[in-house]
Amino acid sequence: MAYQNLLIDHSDGIATITINRPKSLNALSTATVAELNLAVEGVDGDREVKALILTGAGYKAFVAGADISEMTRMGTPAALTFSELGHRLCDALEALPIPTIAAVNGFALGGGCELAMACDLVYASENAQFGQPEVNLAVIPGFGGTSRLARRVGPHKARELIFTGDRIDAKTAAALGLALAVLPSDGLMAHCRAVAQKIAAKGPLAVSQAKKVIAAGSDLPLQAANALERQAFAALFGSLDQKEGMAAFLEKRPAHFQGR
Ligand code: CAA
Repeated sequence: MAYQNLLIDHSDGIATITINRPKSLNALSTATVAELNLAVEGVDGDREVKALILTGAGYKAFVAGADISEMTRMGTPAALTFSELGHRLCDALEALPIPTIAAVNGFALGGGCELAMACDLVYASENAQFGQPEVNLAVIPGFGGTSRLARRVGPHKARELIFTGDRIDAKTAAALGLALAVLPSDGLMAHCRAVAQKIAAKGPLAVSQAKKVIAAGSDLPLQAANALERQAFAALFGSLDQKEGMAAFLEKRPAHFQGR
């Protein structure tokens, strides 16, 4: 599949999607969001892929938001369709059975911050800036920012960020838990690949179940969340990988997982 706005790379079990519109700071046009939806679908069907990295082309931006030049022409029906497309993308990222990593290499604003927050792990370069500046344009976040930012940093801080539209730097984002770590710009991708490779070497069914249980459990009361954990924990004992992982430990050798 040839993409106009994305670069796709597959190597060593890791897929990397690079949003490639550097002239507009990788702004998310409708076509770009549609392509991202297709690319994520493609990853979903590929058993060889064990982790996905999402990043932006160049050193200035991850994604500077939804494409303002396109949104300026939208009325309510078109804005609803656009928002639905963005929500579908963020939901699809969260529903992927593999871990997703946002390599935030510059501005992650509006839809860019929302895209990063739909990923499981977020790492930022020193020059990264995060924010939901939609109120500057007299709109609100439209790709899940009101809900996901509140879940990531708490509703109090989310209100402040969304009401003021303030941008925060990478260190502040890390202090708030919006980013896991701050890396030098030229070391960001290597760090994300190292994390992805470490995860790719683990039992894939276990990683996938962990992702699922954490996501579902975080919206449930503790007892209900633990019930999900029990089911998933027990189900994994029916996998070949569990036998292999535990045998390998006892035999003091590396495990060879098959995802079965
Ligand atoms: N949409 C379309 N084009 C954008 C863009 C966006 N979100 N962000 C930047 N660009 C374009 C600029 O128009 C400019 O294009 P030209 O060279 O053709 O003029 C180019 O990218 C470079 O941008 P700047 O010259 O502005 O670069 P800067 O370094 O001076 O500023 C910036 C960088 C602070 C990120 C600034 O570009 C900016 O504020 N961008 C808009 C950020 C924003 O408001 N994002 C939220 C959009 S709304 C949204 O995302 C809704 C949602 O939730 C789905």
